[in-house]
Amino acid sequence: MDKKVTVVGAGNVGATAAQRLAEKELCDVALIDIIEGFPQGKALDLSEAAPIEKHDARLTGSNDYEASANSDIVIITAGIPRKPGMSRDDLLNINAGIMNSVTKEVAKRSPEAVIIVVSNPLDAMCHVAYETSGFPKNRVIGMAGVLDSARFRSFIAMELNVSVENTTAFVLGGHGDTMVPLPRYSTVAGIPITELLPKERIDALVERTANGGAEIVGLLKTGSAFYAPASAAVEMAESILKDKKKILPCAAYLEGEYGLNELFIGVPVKLGANGVEEIIEITLTSEEKAALEKSADAVRELKEALKKLA
Ligand code: APR
Repeated sequence: MDKKVTVVGAGNVGATAAQRLAEKELCDVALIDIIEGFPQGKALDLSEAAPIEKHDARLTGSNDYEASANSDIVIITAGIPRKPGMSRDDLLNINAGIMNSVTKEVAKRSPEAVIIVVSNPLDAMCHVAYETSGFPKNRVIGMAGVLDSARFRSFIAMELNVSVENTTAFVLGGHGDTMVPLPRYSTVAGIPITELLPKERIDALVERTANGGAEIVGLLKTGSAFYAPASAAVEMAESILKDKKKILPCAAYLEGEYGLNELFIGVPVKLGANGVEEIIEITLTSEEKAALEKSADAVRELKEALKKLA
């Protein structure tokens, strides 16, 4: 393949992302992990599925960051996932250290890459990757909104018994309990769900979306969601690799947009070969604005906690 993506962290999210990237034949994939043999084993297993899945993507696994050199995109999933009772924020200390060391290694070997951050707490981890890499803001992006809006879309489709393909959903804000799903911009075949569902049902779907990650953690007990997070990261990677210029909700570094400054938070962005090519600003109602402010406060709090760690 003429494109290369490195996935750091060959665990549940990383290996599933590698599988999807390869099966869609988007790029060659380098899987990196700290555990000896782990990324090598996953890459070999995935390579052995290639004749059946009919793709020619080359997959390599390594504990050495040299294998990541000259990547177009680096997807960072390294870190520890949540266990029941843990919030994403509980992961802050451990994952900040991991994010810092991983970013240093990948940034020097792929200085032109776009970094897609997946590790949690997402918005805070984006700050670590941004500051450590020294990359311009358009080349550090967090995966959250695509996942949150996919969850919202699934719940809308289940509720109305319609195809998921008919649904669109709009989610702003941080990747946490304060995220801001926007029902008036969430549609079925172009019809806002506010026309199709009573307010109390919409409120229930919004709440389920905001707690979507915790619902899966509660069921799995030994880890957190990975199929949908991997799909979401790969949708972002595809838009960048193919320069599709899809508008997707992603965590992007804001400098004044939505009245927020020097903060990574989920907003609709145009994703193309240069990473974040545009931040789309929409007019919010006062209620939505207040919800976004509250979400921004939660992200700021984590950013401050990071400063104390440094
Ligand atoms: N360098 C490289 N890999 C590392 C490092 C490191 N410093 N530290 C941990 N890892 C690897 C682990 O060895 C493990 O294989 O990261 C991988 C994480 O995989 P899982 O434990 O299966 O976790 P996963 O479910 O994939 O979630 C990873 O994504 O969605 C977020 O909240 C989630 O922060 C978590 C991350």
